[in-house]
Amino acid sequence: MPSILQCMDCAQQYPIKCVLYTCKECGGLLDVKHDFASLAAPITRELFDARLGAFAPPYNSGVWRFKELVYPGIEPAAIVSRMEGNTNLYELPRLAEFAGVDALYLKHEGENPTGSFKDRGMTTGVTQARHLGATRVACASTGNTSASMASYAAYAGMQGIVFLQNQEIAMGKLAQGIAYGAKCVQINADFDRNMALVRQVSERLGIYVLNSINPFRLEGQKTIVFEALQQLRWQAPDWIVVPGGNLGNSSAFGKGLLEMLEVGLIDRMPRLAIIQAEGANPLYRYFSGGLNHFQPVKAQTIATAIKIGNPVNLTKAIRTLEWTGGVVEEVSDEQIMNAKAVIDGAGIGCEPASACSLAGAKKLVESGTIKPGDSVLAVLTGHVLKDPEATIGYHADQLAGIAPGYRNPILQADDDIEQIIRLLE
Ligand code: F0G
Repeated sequence: MPSILQCMDCAQQYPIKCVLYTCKECGGLLDVKHDFASLAAPITRELFDARLGAFAPPYNSGVWRFKELVYPGIEPAAIVSRMEGNTNLYELPRLAEFAGVDALYLKHEGENPTGSFKDRGMTTGVTQARHLGATRVACASTGNTSASMASYAAYAGMQGIVFLQNQEIAMGKLAQGIAYGAKCVQINADFDRNMALVRQVSERLGIYVLNSINPFRLEGQKTIVFEALQQLRWQAPDWIVVPGGNLGNSSAFGKGLLEMLEVGLIDRMPRLAIIQAEGANPLYRYFSGGLNHFQPVKAQTIATAIKIGNPVNLTKAIRTLEWTGGVVEEVSDEQIMNAKAVIDGAGIGCEPASACSLAGAKKLVESGTIKPGDSVLAVLTGHVLKDPEATIGYHADQLAGIAPGYRNPILQADDDIEQIIRLLE
């Protein structure tokens, strides 16, 4: 097999077919390491470009198009795929203008089968679960991971089990978990505590964990940058901007970008900007404090997807910041919701957490970190339908502490033609 598991801290290695999320020696996070040099054919831009528009699996998936970089040794027949990825890259001058840059590209991961980027990590995670012979898979979730895992587990004929935080899961996500048939346990604890609980319960019951602590998740998620850079004709932008919660994407992007450089798909490293909500900003605090002392926070934000105070992928995200010359920024709930309204109003739409990318890019331009002439790739992580309550609350001006700058209030009328015409004039 050209792939192994390797501890990011002490470099201890483990066979690829092993149920392990952290190093048995030192507790460090594990990487899936591939030996690209051992592959029969070289990895080139042409190899991946030739697969665009493929009808047949596995290359009809925007994850498995990059199979050599994702999981080269897996048999195509073993792959559990819902043709995820293949998401659009939008370039809209008015959104670039809002951010204050000349070139802004929005990679819309809400266009995945269950409406979030999680599907990219779930196709690889559930494929590995099946490869290991697992029949039950579990996760703790703020909502999107559970929606995605529930779908992929059902699709693969496995039992999905999700631990949901007691409050504040967006309605669209809750509905998906139930609809796809997962066992949904609403636990009287926040996400960070649920993360610890799911690991302990799964260990006792022999269930495979599919949170982003599982390194196979990140192998799928790194294809967000592979696909975006392919869409940019392999020309790296100056910046990639991404929301940060449990820091799975940030970690996956760093690994993916380094691999692209290594095999020669890109010739320079973009800088990564990780954006957190002000009320859920442990990485921002740690980074602005010079990485001296990490302190988890009690998280609170309207962007419930990233209401996370103790991210499990912290050390991998720090490594990404080092590799990419990256930065961390925070944005307020009001900035998030206003940026979301601008993205929604442009006809594209996204859920609150996703709008951190645009809000954060704007703030980094205002502070002079991102230059107006820089090219920026911003990742939208989830679909507009995920959190209807936040959207409706914003436009009705019913969100505490948030002054909506881009309201589209619903007009009310009686069954009266004159009144309706007056409203529309
Ligand atoms: N955006 C959305 C829409 C998310 O659902 C998440 C994470 C993030 C951003 C943050 O990504 O964790 O890779 O830094 N949602 C998780 C969940 C935690 O349970 O659905 P990250």
